Parts: sequence; C-alpha cells; structure tokens
Amino acid sequence: LTETEQSAINAYEWAGRLFHHVLRYTDDGKDALKYLKERGFQDQDIEQFQLGYSPYKSQFLVSFLEQKGFELQSLVDTGLLSQRDGNTIIDRFQGRVLFPIHNHQGKIVGFGGRAIEEGVEPKYLNSPDSKLFQKSKLLYNFHQARKPAQKQDEIILFEGYADVIKASQAGIKHGVATLGTSLTEYQARLLSRYVSKVIICFDGDQPGREASQRAAEVARKAGLQVLIANIPYQMDPDDFIQSYGEDKFQNQVLGTAEPYVAFMLNFIKKDFNLHVQQDQLTYIEKALDLIATVDHAVERDVYLKQLEENFNLYRETLEDEIAERRRIND
Ligand code: UTP
Ligand code: MN
Ligand code: MN
Ligand code: MN
Ligand code: MN
Repeated sequence: LTETEQSAINAYEWAGRLFHHVLRYTDDGKDALKYLKERGFQDQDIEQFQLGYSPYKSQFLVSFLEQKGFELQSLVDTGLLSQRDGNTIIDRFQGRVLFPIHNHQGKIVGFGGRAIEEGVEPKYLNSPDSKLFQKSKLLYNFHQARKPAQKQDEIILFEGYADVIKASQAGIKHGVATLGTSLTEYQARLLSRYVSKVIICFDGDQPGREASQRAAEVARKAGLQVLIANIPYQMDPDDFIQSYGEDKFQNQVLGTAEPYVAFMLNFIKKDFNLHVQQDQLTYIEKALDLIATVDHAVERDVYLKQLEENFNLYRETLEDEIAERRRIND
C-alpha cells in the first residue's frame, strides 16, 4: 500500500468509529437509530455490521479528520469526502445511515449510505470506485461470511446490504452482497475458491429476476453450482424476514431453492403460450439448450423425464438432441 492508501484506510477506520458512535450514543443519531429500529435492525446487528450515521452537517467528519491531522485533499480522491465546486471540502454522506464496506481483510474501504427519508435520490449513495474500493472486486460482508461459507461449502448472494444483515440476524451467516452492480467474473471466481455452491437470493421483482439470471450465468461459468431461492413476487429477503420471520425464510425461501436450470425451465415458460404448437416447439428447443448445459447426468435425467411426460415425447429423441448439443458445446 502507498502512504496515501494507508492513510485513507486509517481515515475510513476513524470515520467508521465516529459515525457508529453518533448513531448509538448521540442526539444527532436519534432519528437514524429510530429509523433502523423501525426497520427491525437490532443493537446486535448495528454492532456486528458497525452501522453508523453521518449527521446532517456539512463538515462534521471534515473537522474531525482535520483535527486528527489527516491530509483532506487525498481523502477527497479516495472518496471519503466530497468537494464543493472544486473548493470547500465537505462530508459526502450527510444525513445517511452508513453501511461500512470492508475489504476482504476486514478493513473499511468504503460506505454505502442510505437516505433515512423516503424519496431522497439516490436512495443509496456509495463511495466512488478508487484503487482501495473496487465494486467489481469486493463483496459486502465477505470478510465475515468466508469462514461459515467455507464450512457449509455454500454461500448466499443477496442484492442489498439490508438483506445480508437481516439474514445474519436470522442465523444465516454466510451471506454476501454485490455493491450495487451485477456479479462480475472476478467475484464469481473468488467465490469458487471457497465454495462449490451459490444460492442466489435476489429481490422478487422483475429487475431482481433478470439480475438473478445474469448472476447465475456468470457464476456457472466460474464452475459454481447455482441455486435460485424462492422469493415471492415484489418482496426482498429483508421484507420477507421482517414480515414472516426467520423460520419461514429458512424453510420456504432458502429451503426450496431450485437448481438454476430447473428454475429457468419454469421461468421461460411465461414467454410462451404452450397451447400453441409453434410456441411449444420453441419452448422445447430452449429447454433442451438449457438441459444440455447440465453436467450431472442424473440432474439431466430428471429434466428430460419432465419434458418427456409434459409434452408426450420420445425419450430417445430427447437423448439424441442432448447428445448433439453437448458435442457442440464441448
Ligand atoms: P434495492 O433497491 O433492492 O435496495 O437495491 P434494498 O437493499 O432493498 O434497500 P432498502 O431495503 O430500501 O434499504 C439493492 C442494492 O443496490 C444498490 C445498493 O447496494 C443496494 O443495497 N443501490 C440501490 C445503489 O447502489 N443505489 C441505489 O440508489 C439503490
Ligand atoms: Mn459499538
Ligand atoms: Mn432491488
Ligand atoms: Mn431490495
Ligand atoms: Mn429492501
């Protein structure tokens, strides 16, 4: 690390402690604390994830770091502070609850800042990318999730910070989240060094479902076995746990996670009217394409049996189609 980078890490560490203190013990943090409590975050979550609050003051952190002797301009460059019109240096995250984002060694290198008032745009303000904080390489909570994930040979991938924290509250300690981007090849390869299986548990809205599909494809390419959790439409894991509790989340959402191809066979059905012959044929073609990507013979067999029965097809024809596709894919 360069001297500037080391100093940025120290500043992030101080900022994390300061904002955490504000949230837990000061008047400035009262509204934010109330907001978090109403959302179901508990003291233990606030501690474990070192949540904080940046008060609505333009130079609260700035003065603190200045007194500590930090060189402020370089902290603008690493994204901890902002600069108004290329001039006055100010706090970046004013009025936001802060989710510290740790690098994989457990050092804070960025924040995700959530507005505590509805309608404020952006809802989440994240630290900008820098050499220390690369959204395409880091995963939220990886530093804490790595061990339990390795132990269970499985990791859960969420969309949001709040989802990771609620899941942890529910005893699911091997959850991580991307930082507002889609899963990258780099992140997928990283995961594949620790686990063989990833459960994707994104939001149950259309963007979430499309993102699941993209993430699944990236993860499979990295050699990971992929399951898709069963989140109801228009909920996210955080909402689900909040409304229905931990047991239901464990049993109905994670417990019923489906292998990616099974999920997709079902998911793409909505694009077709299976009572129309032409649509049926196209669906079967697409289904065969998907099934051919499955490396486990037993899993392929399960899907082929379904196709055979649902569409009254000859098993031999299906097997031939699969064999041909697998030859081409090789
Ligand atoms: P969501 O909009 O699903 O956020 O975005 P959420 O986690 O459910 O947020 P709450 O529950 O309303 O607080 C998922 C993730 O996308 C990124 C953040 O990382 C967020 O956790 N995001 C979202 C942004 O970076 N900026 C935004 O404005 C919104
Ligand atoms: Mn504390
Ligand atoms: Mn979402
Ligand atoms: Mn969400
Ligand atoms: Mn949410």
